[in-house]
Amino acid sequence: MKGEQLYVSAQKHYVGGGGAGGRYHPLLRRPLYLARGKGSRFWDVDGKEYIDFFTGSGANFLGHDHPAVAAAIRKALEIGVICNGETEFHSQLADLIADAVPCAEKIRLANSGTEATLGAIRIARGFAKKPKVLKFEGHFHGMHELIWYNCATAPGAVRSDGTIAPLPDTDGMPAVFGDLVVVVPFNDPDAFTRAVAAHGQDLAAVIVEPISYNQGCIPADPEFLRLVRDTCTRLGIVLIFDEVLSGFRMGRGGAQEYFGITPDLCTLAKALGGGVPIAAVCGKDEVMSVLNPTGPTVMSGTYTGHLTAVMGAIACQTEIAKPGFYERLNGLADRLYRGIGEALKATGVPGRVQGIGARFGIYFGVTDPVTNYREAVQTDREMEVKFILGCVRRGLYLHDYAHRAPMHHGFSAQHTERDIDEAVNIVEDALREL
Ligand SMILES: Cc1ncc(COP(=O)(O)O)c(C=O)c1O
Repeated sequence: MKGEQLYVSAQKHYVGGGGAGGRYHPLLRRPLYLARGKGSRFWDVDGKEYIDFFTGSGANFLGHDHPAVAAAIRKALEIGVICNGETEFHSQLADLIADAVPCAEKIRLANSGTEATLGAIRIARGFAKKPKVLKFEGHFHGMHELIWYNCATAPGAVRSDGTIAPLPDTDGMPAVFGDLVVVVPFNDPDAFTRAVAAHGQDLAAVIVEPISYNQGCIPADPEFLRLVRDTCTRLGIVLIFDEVLSGFRMGRGGAQEYFGITPDLCTLAKALGGGVPIAAVCGKDEVMSVLNPTGPTVMSGTYTGHLTAVMGAIACQTEIAKPGFYERLNGLADRLYRGIGEALKATGVPGRVQGIGARFGIYFGVTDPVTNYREAVQTDREMEVKFILGCVRRGLYLHDYAHRAPMHHGFSAQHTERDIDEAVNIVEDALREL
């Protein structure tokens, strides 16, 4: 098997046999080594074909080798692989984002979701002149010291001030960073109110995944999100929606349009570029005005807004703005989630699917809605492991992250009804095996 051989040779210089730790599939016990991707599918180096329900962790929102994205990248190459330079295309992209995303009065580009949340937190601190950030348990905002806490850790006890002790999600983080993070259970208005009463005077920002796909798919209770919005407005705390995954996922305006609640700042990545490495911090004029070069809060970078990424993102944003794009996408979503729900029923496997737009989570061992991390970690991980392996073996690629809580899966705009039906059949077979 070429995949097995590659795993051996790749480990010579790559720890874990891959350029990024997250590509290791803990259930396959190695990364999947890919040969090529086209549309809704990819092929591994051994020639096995998969329906792709990973889609680059949500980045390949337009599937693989989308003709518009590929042509845009080719055009960038013709222009001359401009790095660290502005062009007319950068303005075009900003206009497209501002047209789609409610809070996007001003935009600063970045290369990844991690870099975008790092920038957004710095902007919030530069604006509010306060040190701390409130985040919710189970929410993931990238792999940096400012915020990578209590995303996949064991649920902690809720203390009298409504908070949970901050626990880093990686080794190598000096404890001093945790002193600047206030962790609160999600969708818990009482805990949130108590935490703000205790720490509000020190809070620069509240950061939230308004739809937390990093625990499958757990949307905010709209009343809870409204409480968070109103509290931040009242106390002058910057509200950041981390829309790295939810942005453009069910509509052009992302979760802020879905809920009709506008944050002060948001972060975008993944579906922003349809597979190219690009991200953004967007926000209201007043907050974004602290940014350099006109303000004192600095965020920049050599590769930021690389022309190949900007051109790819313009192509992606142009595609999603076409009439009927989201009607079709959300129609496929309904078909898929209905199909998985029926397969669960038909096979008698206890579980539920929760999905919004093109991403979803499957929770085993429960039938009631999963509304926060505490509930998500109580689902049946053993069943989930068997299910994922059953799907992968049958040619439906689901990634696994070895998290306590189920993670997100999803499809792209190039998936067809046929792909969805084929996937549902595979799901039903894999469930039957359970
Ligand atoms: C909500 C959210 N924020 C931030 C990130 C980090 O993005 P990246 O992997 O591009 O650094 C992710 C990645 O999955 C994410 O889902």
